[in-house]
Amino acid sequence: MSIKFYCADIPNQSKALEIAKKLSTTLEFDNTKRHESEPYFLFRDLNLYFFHPLAKAKNPLLINYDSPKNQWRMSRVEHEKHLKKAIGRHNRPLRIFDTTGGLLTDALIFLSLGHFVECTEKSSIIYNLTNYALEKSVTVKKKLKKKFIHHNVDFKEINQHDSYDIVYYDPMFEATKKTASSSGNIDYLKKILEFENHRYDTKLDFQYLCDNFKCKKIIKRPVKATPLSNKINYQIFGKSIRYDVYL
Ligand SMILES: C[S@@+](CC[C@H](N)C(=O)[O-])C[C@H]1O[C@@H](n2cnc3c(N)ncnc32)[C@H](O)[C@@H]1O
Repeated sequence: MSIKFYCADIPNQSKALEIAKKLSTTLEFDNTKRHESEPYFLFRDLNLYFFHPLAKAKNPLLINYDSPKNQWRMSRVEHEKHLKKAIGRHNRPLRIFDTTGGLLTDALIFLSLGHFVECTEKSSIIYNLTNYALEKSVTVKKKLKKKFIHHNVDFKEINQHDSYDIVYYDPMFEATKKTASSSGNIDYLKKILEFENHRYDTKLDFQYLCDNFKCKKIIKRPVKATPLSNKINYQIFGKSIRYDVYL
């Protein structure tokens, strides 16, 4: 289904056009035609918004890596003790394959910790929203130079299985009473994946990773979920999530 892309930023319409092309949609200039009953993109003041009528958040999704919240998180990356423990000791920057890029929160933590990150995201909407937010960001751009590769593909399309020190897998969690109250951004991710008709099978994905990657694998799970395999080498427990590490 083609999604409407409204441009309310006439001076910067060439930028909007460039993004609309990547999303295989055309620009609409008449903002008055915008319906709150269907999903749409909105380009305004050089910002790219995505709206979904069934999302929990009232406001459209806007990814802003320069926001105070993101800046604060990036500046205290040394406090990411669970993820750091899962990565373990190392005497050089590592090559991390982040198979489930999403909003890139974890990828940016890996980068801030000094590692190289290659990342896949199969949703075109999520990929384009995050890619544009990165392009626009003043602070994050510096971290990315020669250290970050971002692909809009399913991770199974990446063939260099021996190029990484760590594979990281953070799937969408199965809905439980707890995750039903997930944050606005995660809820938006779910709505986007439903809209694009993406299906995922955590067990099959995990099996694929085990069969194809011999390096260390870090799997993010809800803290009480059953492990995807009993061959775990160690686990790092947070309050609501857990990292299962397979060597
Ligand atoms: C829970 S989110 C990841 C959140 C991410 N770690 C972050 O910090 O923002 C899962 C993401 O993985 C993507 N995804 C799921 N299966 C995938 C696959 N097989 N290949 C590439 N991306 C996938 C989904 O589209 C979704 O955006």
